[in-house]
Amino acid sequence: RTARLTLHPAFTVGRVSPRLFGSFVEHLGRCVYTGIYEPGHPTADEAGLRRDVLALVRELGVTAIRYPGGNFVSGYRWEDSVGPVEDRPRRLDLAWHSTETNRFGLAEYMCFMRELGPGAEPMMALNLGTRGVAEALQLQEYANHPGGTALSALRVSHGDKDPYGIRLWCLGNEMDGPWQTGHKTAAEYARLAAETARAMRQLDPGVELVACGSSGRSMPTFAEWEATVLAETYELVDFISLHAYYEPQDGDIDSFLASASDMESFIEGVVATCDHIGARLKSRKRINLSFDEWNVWYMSRWQQQAATSAPQDWPDAPPLLEDTYSVTDAVVVGSLLIALLRHADRVTIACLAQLVNVIAPIRTEPGGPAWRQTTFFPFAQASRHGRGEVLDVRVDSPVHDTARYGETDLLYATAVRADDGTVTVFAVNRSRTEPLPLQAALDGLGLTTVVEHSALADADPDACNTRDDPERVVPHQVHGTSVADGRLTAELEPLSWNMIRLA
Ligand code: AHR
Repeated sequence: RTARLTLHPAFTVGRVSPRLFGSFVEHLGRCVYTGIYEPGHPTADEAGLRRDVLALVRELGVTAIRYPGGNFVSGYRWEDSVGPVEDRPRRLDLAWHSTETNRFGLAEYMCFMRELGPGAEPMMALNLGTRGVAEALQLQEYANHPGGTALSALRVSHGDKDPYGIRLWCLGNEMDGPWQTGHKTAAEYARLAAETARAMRQLDPGVELVACGSSGRSMPTFAEWEATVLAETYELVDFISLHAYYEPQDGDIDSFLASASDMESFIEGVVATCDHIGARLKSRKRINLSFDEWNVWYMSRWQQQAATSAPQDWPDAPPLLEDTYSVTDAVVVGSLLIALLRHADRVTIACLAQLVNVIAPIRTEPGGPAWRQTTFFPFAQASRHGRGEVLDVRVDSPVHDTARYGETDLLYATAVRADDGTVTVFAVNRSRTEPLPLQAALDGLGLTTVVEHSALADADPDACNTRDDPERVVPHQVHGTSVADGRLTAELEPLSWNMIRLA
């Protein structure tokens, strides 16, 4: 059966925030060290940043980059990470049982962001695990105050005359999780987040603040946590965070391919909770969503490994969570991007977790090459062509049964209309065996031409890119896709991510 899409310029979801294409750099494993930063690497610049990685990050098209954690941030002492590198202390990182050398710190992160160019924006997470209001204010003053005070003068003395101008701040990380250093109850966190937000706004009313939501929809405190936190912080923060990671469970690939159903329910649940609190407070303000950790993560493999092997003796930047992604994983990542775009009216920040080596679209070898994982491609294409107004597409698709989500559409899609009137359809065929014929009604959009139909699919769903075969999986052009009389006709390969650009 044919899947049908209806697109019309009068029916839109909302404008895509550039911050939807954010990512995440945590001091975890080799994300920073031998990932983005490796002095002595043949491609390293004077600051020790790997130029090969910088080029791939630019190509990926990431915008906001959350830093420095993650679980790491809940033990982070920002002052360890500034000033002369040789004076910086080595510290135990409780979150990842590693040693943090602090060779890479705040100034190096800001240098990395500047190297990425004007589309890149810092997103700084604060330690509300072992620390509180005072340290948050100190970091804010060090980073953003122009000069003439002790902490701003310290930054200047460290070589950065101009303030960093960090607008976007996360008030802690996953504070609902018992694994978090300094884990809190919702009421304890709400109070601390409110007081930190109030104080930071006293220093600078222009900051944008993200309160911690749940670290997953399956958390027992989900929704109640958000309600408690927002009841106390509603007028003080701008965003509430969501985190979600997906992996196949018990080998059930069809359910894994439908992970976007869970992501959509999560988003809709958080929107409902935000609006419920807004209604209770009779507020005119709207809280938006920061989906600041999302990805495919083979977490159970890691948990099993961690449970069965003795922890190493606090190593420096050990290889951790270095998942290698397949074609199937890329299709899931593509569908998660579609879910985010379909909620672009409320999800205005999203960060693919993470950027390099650690559950990442980019991998590196110390001293060696950097390469693109399969998941790199849907993200890069969506970031490049998913800018503009999301159309509220109507989908009429054949379905199949999944164990976790019941009857699920085989076609999962969205479309974005750019300011020049061109439209990009992003679509996934979830059938692992059958091609999916697609027809789309394009009335009122004035589209006559297929600019390109690019697909990521492979006869081997487990195919992946590796150091020795870094281009085993790349998108290919699909021929035969056409537009005639306001109607798009295409065929989506089995288990495929598709980008169809129309003009
Ligand atoms: O991204 C890996 C980890 O996942 C982060 O440190 C944490 O916030 C989440 O649990």
